[in-house]
Amino acid sequence: MKIKSAEYILSAVKPHQYPPEEFCEVAFVGRSNVGKSSIINTLANRKNIARTSGKPGKTQTINFYEVNNSLMLVDLPGYGFAKVSKQQKAGWKKMIESYLLKRTTLKGVVQLIDLRHKPTSEDQDMFAWLLENKFPVLLVATKSDKLSNNQVQKNLKELCNTLGVPKDYPIIFSALTKVGREEVWESLHGLLEM
Ligand code: GTP
Ligand code: MG
Repeated sequence: MKIKSAEYILSAVKPHQYPPEEFCEVAFVGRSNVGKSSIINTLANRKNIARTSGKPGKTQTINFYEVNNSLMLVDLPGYGFAKVSKQQKAGWKKMIESYLLKRTTLKGVVQLIDLRHKPTSEDQDMFAWLLENKFPVLLVATKSDKLSNNQVQKNLKELCNTLGVPKDYPIIFSALTKVGREEVWESLHGLLEM
């Protein structure tokens, strides 16, 4: 996918702060630190348009990025981060759910899962919730650069068994090596019928 422009638009917490519903949107969900902000940088061919961090809990608002004046990539806070209060966790959950459920221009959700580890119960709950709510979901198994080819295949099998999806469903990805970037774009085009 050729990127002609990529631009940070704004950060929002409440629906009245979202940008106008002008473009098709895709949102990125997953555990804190899984690489949601990183995949947005990779897709947009930018080093740090979305802020990343080695410490979980970096993204705390809903951040909108416009690509090629035609599509919005939406970065969300992560789940499963132990070091925030119960109250803050509940606030993030509400913020994420109301965005996902209310945004009429949202065409699909990319769920990222760390391929190094078996999907957590929160990964499983999120995937089930997305399916229940009839979202088109793209599963991306990320940080594949940290594994050998054998481990990739072994962990992919476990991921698919745990979530009950076919073996060719998740896209193997790495923000470091950019493996899977074109495949993710192709699938996004499918979701968006672009
Ligand atoms: P929160 O905003 O805290 O929810 O995290 P996030 O999901 O946005 O993760 P982020 O993109 O900030 O990445 C977290 C850390 O993982 C950073 O140190 C990234 O450099 C690293 N990272 C992300 N993707 C990959 C990957 O594919 N391979 C490797 N090796 N590191 C990655
Ligand atoms: Mg982030």
